[in-house]
Amino acid sequence: MNETALESIAARSQRLKAATHATHDRLDKTIMARDIFASREKFAKFVRVQYRFHRDIDALYGNEALVALIPNLGERRRLLKIATDLSDLRQALPLPVPGKLDNGTSLPTALGWLYVAEGSNLGGTILYKLASQKLGLGSGLGASHLAAHPDGAARHWREFTKVLDSVPLSPAQEGEMVLGAEAAFRAVQGYVREEIG
Ligand code: HEM
Repeated sequence: MNETALESIAARSQRLKAATHATHDRLDKTIMARDIFASREKFAKFVRVQYRFHRDIDALYGNEALVALIPNLGERRRLLKIATDLSDLRQALPLPVPGKLDNGTSLPTALGWLYVAEGSNLGGTILYKLASQKLGLGSGLGASHLAAHPDGAARHWREFTKVLDSVPLSPAQEGEMVLGAEAAFRAVQGYVREEIG
């Protein structure tokens, strides 16, 4: 979508969705083409992708500006659940390397990365159903990080997008947020290539 068309979309979260639509679509297709539900071993490779992505953003959950801005930010952190899922699937954790983001990350960049992490819960509900149907996994075994929030994935998501839509950002900062989201999607694509092939 070109810039003029993007500017005509009223809500910032919707602009972000439109700006990253093609990137999301590519990632979604890449993952589904890898047949990650063929076996628990295959699914575990996808969980390793999730681990590496969530390790990248883990420092953000302790960032004071973000904690003040986003309701229940701590509860949105999924790294420990992903580690538990890997352990259920009898997988070692990926090698410990520092995450890509730290406490010095700017607010717009952080919001772009968090948008990708929070949005992935929406597609996550589909993946959760497939993991349950095809592999017998669930919130108590191997797929806890994909289980919907007790309030419902959609409602939990709307609480997050309300913040995205209302936080004051200049057009340049909004551009920075889009770049942050694109970088997050690219990081995940790279992990899919490395972990699943
Ligand atoms: C095969 C895997 C995936 C499928 C089938 C999938 C599917 C979906 C679906 C159905 C939605 C809801 C779209 C809507 O309500 O309009 C969604 C949203 C989203 N997904 Fe995925 N997804 C997948 C993987 C991922 C991954 C790995 C990420 C990022 C790490 C991701 C990031 C997002 C984001 C950011 C949104 C929110 C879009 C918005 O702004 O509404 N998805 N996905």
